Amino acid sequence: MLGKKIATTLLILGLLVGTVVYIGWYNLLREVDTYIESPAEHFKYGSIGTENDQGVPYWIWMVLPRLFPEYLPGTNGYTSLGFTWEPGQETPVGVSKKTIGFPRQGITCAVCHSATYRKAPEDNPIIVPAGPSVKFNSLGYVRFLQACAQDPRFTADYILPEIEYNHSLSAFEKLLYRFLIIPTTRKEMLEQGESFAWTNSRPNWGPGRIDPFNPVKFNMLAIPIDDTIGNSDMMSLWNQKQHQGFALHWDGLETSLTETVNTGALGDGATRKSINIEGLQRVEKYITELDPPQFPFAIDQAAAAKGEKVFDQHCATCHAFGGERTGTVIPQQEVGTDRHRLDMWTQEAADKYNAFAEGYDYDFDQLRKTDGYLSVSLDGLWLRAPYLHNGSVPSLQDLLKTPDARTPVFYRGYDVYDPDAVGFISQGAEAERVGFEYDTSVVENSNQGHVYGTNLPDKDKATLIEYLKTL
Ligand code: HEC
Ligand code: HEC
Repeated sequence: MLGKKIATTLLILGLLVGTVVYIGWYNLLREVDTYIESPAEHFKYGSIGTENDQGVPYWIWMVLPRLFPEYLPGTNGYTSLGFTWEPGQETPVGVSKKTIGFPRQGITCAVCHSATYRKAPEDNPIIVPAGPSVKFNSLGYVRFLQACAQDPRFTADYILPEIEYNHSLSAFEKLLYRFLIIPTTRKEMLEQGESFAWTNSRPNWGPGRIDPFNPVKFNMLAIPIDDTIGNSDMMSLWNQKQHQGFALHWDGLETSLTETVNTGALGDGATRKSINIEGLQRVEKYITELDPPQFPFAIDQAAAAKGEKVFDQHCATCHAFGGERTGTVIPQQEVGTDRHRLDMWTQEAADKYNAFAEGYDYDFDQLRKTDGYLSVSLDGLWLRAPYLHNGSVPSLQDLLKTPDARTPVFYRGYDVYDPDAVGFISQGAEAERVGFEYDTSVVENSNQGHVYGTNLPDKDKATLIEYLKTL
């Protein structure tokens, strides 16, 4: 009799515990896979596995700009940090939404690797996936989240009513948000902000640039904080089919595209476990097959044909497909551009990264330390302004001037295009209002070096530029 009672009690207890575990799992951990059919849409919005660790709960993330507008650089919510929001989408380009217990957001490749441009100020921006963003203000975004979390008003009482405007939460969900999700999010946002404290003593990245590997060195690889500055311009990812055998990254620190794609996801906040390898394989296929975008203004074809000869003579060895040195590392002493980005990456970092994913079913072993910068192919060049690894030269016209005659101060982050200079408009009232002041005298921002073609006669420069528009 007693035995039966104990058994019944145990059974009930077991059921209760089971139910609690199930409810906990369902509301906090259950992963709902989303599959986006179109490769381009997947590239822009598909999960790469960054939601688990670094993602912010979607509904909190949605209301932060309304609750804390004073921490944004402008009045248009996330758009003021350079995000591009397509009509009808739940998130901006480069932000995924995934349910892990509850909806969360995460960053995707496209937040940095999708370009926008406008032919005229009154136009809507045209989005070009896999192009380098000139607008996304990554450091501004990190600092915005940190400032929100530091604000004493970051509490359930302040946040929940604002969420209710967008989305009605059940009584149980409200409890979860109040006692678990909001406090944990705050703690994690504060920690994330602190992990970027080293940026406070170094030059601002500004829009369209990040220090890509120092966060990885100092956080993921647990290398002690040093004083290097690695600010680099975002790169285009299209047309990898023609980049077979090229090294990758501005200094060629990788030689495998698959590894570069996977390290990209870890750099964005995916963990060794949460990284979405299948989703990333689709990204790799997409950027491999994608053609570069065509120059969207008229080209003088006769001039371009003449310019091709100038290119063949002065540039092709390093930049043409099939060129002897294309896609290889050119020693820094030879190309002469700013060396900080190069010095940021060390042999120790390469070794540690190569050991980082031992034992997982993907692995890294092709990270390395080099002594120069990659002679990149110039496909889709027109949309890759400002030029060079640190984004220090606003236009092709400027790059073909001797370094001392190049523009010392300009504004970047304004996406209206200048087809004559071949680059974005980087001077004038609007560029100043929207853009970030890029001063080439700031450490790491130097526009010196790469003197190729700078002594050509003006007419050859003009035809060469016409040819470069066709790439
Ligand atoms: C926060 C911005 C950011 C995000 C997000 C990002 N990247 Fe990058 N990516 C960069 C920058 C900046 C570089 C150039 C870095 C350098 O070498 O200095 C780069 C370089 C690359 C390159 C090298 C291109 C070449 O031709 O050498 C590849 C490939 C790449 N990224 C793929 C990805 C993929 C795939 C993702 C998503 C999984 C991703 N990136 C996410 C900023 C980003
Ligand atoms: C000896 C090899 C070499 C030659 C010759 C050469 N370049 Fe380069 N080029 C490089 C290297 C290396 C870089 C990357 C430098 C950096 O970013 O610091 C580069 C970068 C560039 C970029 C910037 C690409 C981007 O995405 O920002 C452009 C544009 C360019 N070169 C055009 C030319 C033109 C035009 C010529 C011929 C007049 C030329 N180059 C000749 C090696 C060369």
